[in-house]
Amino acid sequence: MPPISPIHVAIIMDGNGRWATQRQLPRQEGHRAGAQAVRRTVEAAIRYGLHTLTLYAFSADNWKRPQIEVNTLMLLFRSYLTEEVGACARQGIRLSVIGRRDRLPRSLVSLIEQAELKTARGQRLHLRLAVDYSSRYAILEAARAASNEEEFRRALGPDVDLLIRTAGEQRLSDFLLWECAYAEFVFLPQLWPDFDEAGLRESLRQFWSRERRFGGLPAASARQGGEPGSTVLRGARSCA
Ligand code: IPE
Ligand code: IPE
Ligand code: MG
Repeated sequence: MPPISPIHVAIIMDGNGRWATQRQLPRQEGHRAGAQAVRRTVEAAIRYGLHTLTLYAFSADNWKRPQIEVNTLMLLFRSYLTEEVGACARQGIRLSVIGRRDRLPRSLVSLIEQAELKTARGQRLHLRLAVDYSSRYAILEAARAASNEEEFRRALGPDVDLLIRTAGEQRLSDFLLWECAYAEFVFLPQLWPDFDEAGLRESLRQFWSRERRFGGLPAASARQGGEPGSTVLRGARSCA
């Protein structure tokens, strides 16, 4: 078992379409199954003591998809907010939504605002859902609004410790570009609707088996007379 991991994990939940196609189902069925995987993953995140979990649910480029698929994704997002907000509040989950809001329907924006308000006091897990999200856009906005680096960093959010992408693709697709500067990457072949606690466990196991150096020296070299301050920072030490 990996240790309790008070870190920031971000997941690119990819492969819903392929999961459905393999079963000769419409792509929307893949998204429905994907929503169940989100629920499982949040439960597992609590069990592994994650500090923050950021899930890529809908990218700013996903508007290019057929209207029926976009509608299904928005409907699933709406249902998640409506059905899960009570349980989130009870379990101490703070729910936030990152991404643009000016292109979402007004009724959805007010649902988001209510969910954020109802769960604002949660201390156990910070669950961030990325919807109509583009990291390039977020960086430009933060740069416009901030008057110094501290404000810029705060506008973007915490650094990512572990980035997981399912379904085999090995790219960021405009997700958390700045925040992943020193993230560890795990790419899993399994499709998102098949993701479960075992997938998170395996990803955390890989994370804890790696040595993060942040530009310093490996631990062994540092012990053999590296400069003071060149010691390696490991895993969870990086998180705030
Ligand atoms: C991820 O699955 C969900 C979203 C992008 C909204 P995809 O729909 O991208 O699934 P594939 O990549 O086509 O299999
Ligand atoms: C990234 O997946 C977006 C989400 C998972 C929400 P995509 O399927 O849209 O990414 P590309 O097109 O393969 O890069
Ligand atoms: Mg995809």
